Amino acid sequence: MLYLDYAATTPPYDEVIDAVAEVMKQHYGNPSSLHRMGVVAEQLVSQARAVIASSLSCQPVEIRFTSGGTESNNWAIQATARRFRQRGNHLITTAVEHASVYETFRELERQGFRVTYLPVDATGAVKLEELDKALSDDTILVSIMAVNNEIGRIQPISAIGELLRQRSRTIVFHVDAVQAIGKVPLHPGKLKIDLLSCSAHKLRGPKGSGFLYVRKGLELPPLMYGGGQEGGLRSGTENVPSLVGMAKAIRMAVEEQDRFHAHTHLLRKQLAAAIRDIPELRLSGSDAEGEMAPHIVHFCFPGMKSEVLVHALEEADIYVSSRSACSSSANKPSRVLKAMGFDDARAISGIRVSYSLSQTIDDINYFGEQLQKAVARLKHTITGQPNQRR
Ligand SMILES: Cc1ncc(COP(=O)(O)O)c(C=O)c1O
Repeated sequence: MLYLDYAATTPPYDEVIDAVAEVMKQHYGNPSSLHRMGVVAEQLVSQARAVIASSLSCQPVEIRFTSGGTESNNWAIQATARRFRQRGNHLITTAVEHASVYETFRELERQGFRVTYLPVDATGAVKLEELDKALSDDTILVSIMAVNNEIGRIQPISAIGELLRQRSRTIVFHVDAVQAIGKVPLHPGKLKIDLLSCSAHKLRGPKGSGFLYVRKGLELPPLMYGGGQEGGLRSGTENVPSLVGMAKAIRMAVEEQDRFHAHTHLLRKQLAAAIRDIPELRLSGSDAEGEMAPHIVHFCFPGMKSEVLVHALEEADIYVSSRSACSSSANKPSRVLKAMGFDDARAISGIRVSYSLSQTIDDINYFGEQLQKAVARLKHTITGQPNQRR
């Protein structure tokens, strides 16, 4: 079995599973209870917050726990729009965001906000000139992802942060860092980020757990009303086992980040070479050093629906994605690939391969061999009609 779908989700670290189980068995008190069991649970929540804050070089009070990336993105964007509507009605994002960002902006458009979806170049990158052009006096929010979940393109977050601060002190800068934390260095303070979303299950933590970094001084309206947890911003009894597991996963991921980077960088080179060797395939993204996340490789098999190749590889017990897991069943050309200027034949055929420290060069070589065989078997079935069912 070869699991190469780490951008969809990851197997939790053993240490995370042990920590979650230990808290579930031993420390099941409610952090809001006044007795000792509650106090212990509350201490675990505080420790988890402190560990995450130190991994991001920020303050514990800036970490607000959520149920994952989708919730963090929804909260960041909707709350900012609501809070600053008096100041302006214009929001900026990109055409290649994850659905949890993109669909939130679509909803805000229905509510009357003006939204600019910045175009990207053929490698998937936002151009600073386009952002500069789009900014206006009534812009209140810019939301741009750090690493694209479909093709792995790294966006120029540092330069975007600089540009925004030069242009205005009040525009809120949100970064969806779900695919970036633990993979590429990210310190919200240094990068002039106001809001940053993270999800634990992408970095070997538990599912259904994440956080939103909210820069101190930025006051957002609550996401949920109730018992006043999370400083009154997100009520609901804390998911203590999961928070403890997430903190452990983030600490481990950040500690091994350099090793992760060096290793996955090698795997990426090997995999890119294997893909280039198969004439029917087209590698996506940039060839320039440092512009692609090392743990995601994307390619197209023009004219061949992604799902066909996904299932052909599955027969060899190899697991990859057609695109982001949340939209992989949508039987349409990929919105992200279309935004990069790909034609329909290419945009229906994207395959994402993603991996971590656990995979080896041998795994990648084996994948290359199986891919070559699958392509050789399938290439005769291409008719050039992207919409025809096969
Ligand atoms: C870039 C990005 N943002 C947000 C999400 C959503 O995260 P979650 O699955 O924790 O809701 C994902 C998950 O695929 C993602 O890749």
